[in-house]
Amino acid sequence: MSDTRIIQTDLSSVLTVEEIAEIDHELVHIPYKSGAAIDALKIVQKARGWVSDECLQAIAKHLEMSSEELEGVATFYNLIYRRPVGDKVILFCDSVSCWINGCDDIKQAISDKLGVDYGETTNDNAYTLLPVPCLGACDRAPVMMVGDELVTNLNNEVVETLFASGKSGGKQ
Ligand code: FES
Repeated sequence: MSDTRIIQTDLSSVLTVEEIAEIDHELVHIPYKSGAAIDALKIVQKARGWVSDECLQAIAKHLEMSSEELEGVATFYNLIYRRPVGDKVILFCDSVSCWINGCDDIKQAISDKLGVDYGETTNDNAYTLLPVPCLGACDRAPVMMVGDELVTNLNNEVVETLFASGKSGGKQ
């Protein structure tokens, strides 16, 4: 009994006033609350870097959805992070055009340089490396996003230059 009360109290205070206001602003344009699910997840992720279980439950409650429904949305939309990520996320394309143009070797060079594999974050929290499907720049493959920056025509020199400080080594 008391556990339930604690959880309910916590949920009501998980989202900030600013986050709720931003979500409610989206709701003005949408006829049903669950239609704002992706926007709400993005709003919370923008502020916190990722979406924790507590935040997901609070968003679901605010949008009158079940946590399971919202989890399904978050899982389908692969740019919603359900675990903490580094300061910059490297979204590395491993789809067919990039694969034909040697992305496996480039990915290995990044892993060697930063000391991380897919799904891992460097010890200094600078980067998280994740695979993604086609980034829509196949004519400039291999391609990746580093934070908000699209990096095209990848080769070992580009990797060396981008991660020149090389102090990230290791993983979390
Ligand atoms: Fe990599 Fe399209 S396959 S950008």
